[in-house]
Amino acid sequence: MTETISDKEKEIRLKKKELKKMKKELKGMKKELRDRKKAEVEKLLSDYINHPKVREMRAFTQHGSITTYDHCERVAEMSLKLNRKFRIGADEEKLAVGALLHDFYLYDWHDDDGGSHRLHGFTHPEQARQNAVEIFDIDEKEQEIIRTHMWPLTLNAIPKSREAAIVCLADKWCSLQETLFMR
Ligand SMILES: [Fe+2]
Ligand SMILES: [Fe+2]
Repeated sequence: MTETISDKEKEIRLKKKELKKMKKELKGMKKELRDRKKAEVEKLLSDYINHPKVREMRAFTQHGSITTYDHCERVAEMSLKLNRKFRIGADEEKLAVGALLHDFYLYDWHDDDGGSHRLHGFTHPEQARQNAVEIFDIDEKEQEIIRTHMWPLTLNAIPKSREAAIVCLADKWCSLQETLFMR
């Protein structure tokens, strides 16, 4: 009888060990998948992410401990994920470019600057669009993605393309995650 219990215990211990090993492998696979997706986004955006002005976004805080650059990269990844998962059929390159540059306004909206950032929520999409146009040869659709991403706050700037609607949604989802869980 004692031997049987001991055997059972051994079996349980072995199973637990196996389970732990499987969990570790799964974690590794998830990380690999995340890294692969990140590499895919970076490849799609290679002309943009290495530009010094785009890199400047790393110096500004967006939400909690997240920089504006990290936020924009997360929105690009989320936009591509939504597009694929729901088979929306948006143009991947335009989607990624618009998402990466959607907050390309180049200042820290938390700074106390005498009040000029009070209207940040309403004004930064146009500021970001202007900066993007000055530096990159972005087309109408990419500009529209940037200009309309804050809708419905910016009442008249309504997303009219699939790409703009996806970024508008991905931005809200990522912002909520960053504000609540990534402080
Ligand atoms: Fe924004
Ligand atoms: Fe944003």
